[in-house]
Amino acid sequence: MKAFVKSINYRSPLIYNILDYLKRGTRRDLRYRLPLPYLKGASSVLDLCGGTGEFKKFLPAGCQYSVCDASPGFVAHLAKSHIRHFQWDLHRGLPRFFPKVDAVVMIISLYQFRTTSIDVLLEAVKDIASTVVIVEEVSVSPQKQSALTRWVKNYLCATDFFVPVELFVREEFESIMKKRRYDFISYDKKYCVGCYHRQA
Ligand SMILES: C[S@@+](CC[C@H](N)C(=O)[O-])C[C@H]1O[C@@H](n2cnc3c(N)ncnc32)[C@H](O)[C@@H]1O
Repeated sequence: MKAFVKSINYRSPLIYNILDYLKRGTRRDLRYRLPLPYLKGASSVLDLCGGTGEFKKFLPAGCQYSVCDASPGFVAHLAKSHIRHFQWDLHRGLPRFFPKVDAVVMIISLYQFRTTSIDVLLEAVKDIASTVVIVEEVSVSPQKQSALTRWVKNYLCATDFFVPVELFVREEFESIMKKRRYDFISYDKKYCVGCYHRQA
């Protein structure tokens, strides 16, 4: 039982989606809608840490959609759904084999790389896409979670590709975006967007 529960959030698409509904409720879809205004005209999109590939449903029909994720469970789900995918641990940076695309997106996932590959990722994606959109869930002040809450979260995500870290505080995310020459857009208390457009 213990072994079944450990890492289940990043192993089972079903459990991931249930926990996601419990956490975000009816606002669950908002994170997928936020990148759309910046993706107009993009005919190919690579979704880094794209999980179960849910974002595909929000893109226009005909847009070539692919996902990079490290989770074997999610990758198996993507294969079943006939979504092009790459299994890769992004703590190692971007691999050379990624295709060039019109746009790269990363949705509520950048914070996971805050102590490892964040700078490398934010620069390397500019070489494979002319548009990069980062949607991030931020906290208003440094998270004051109880030790138990933190332990449960980390236990449910505990895979060999997961590094336990806190969400960004809003100002921290803004400063990272500006340092890497991304525009910073504040949506509301919870969500921010970072957007890079390469000049023609
Ligand atoms: C918070 S979920 C977000 C998933 C999706 N973007 C969404 O909005 O539902 C984080 C995702 O990052 C993936 N992930 C975590 N660490 C990773 C790593 N080192 N390399 C690649 N993917 C990773 C997880 O498997 C998971 O799908």
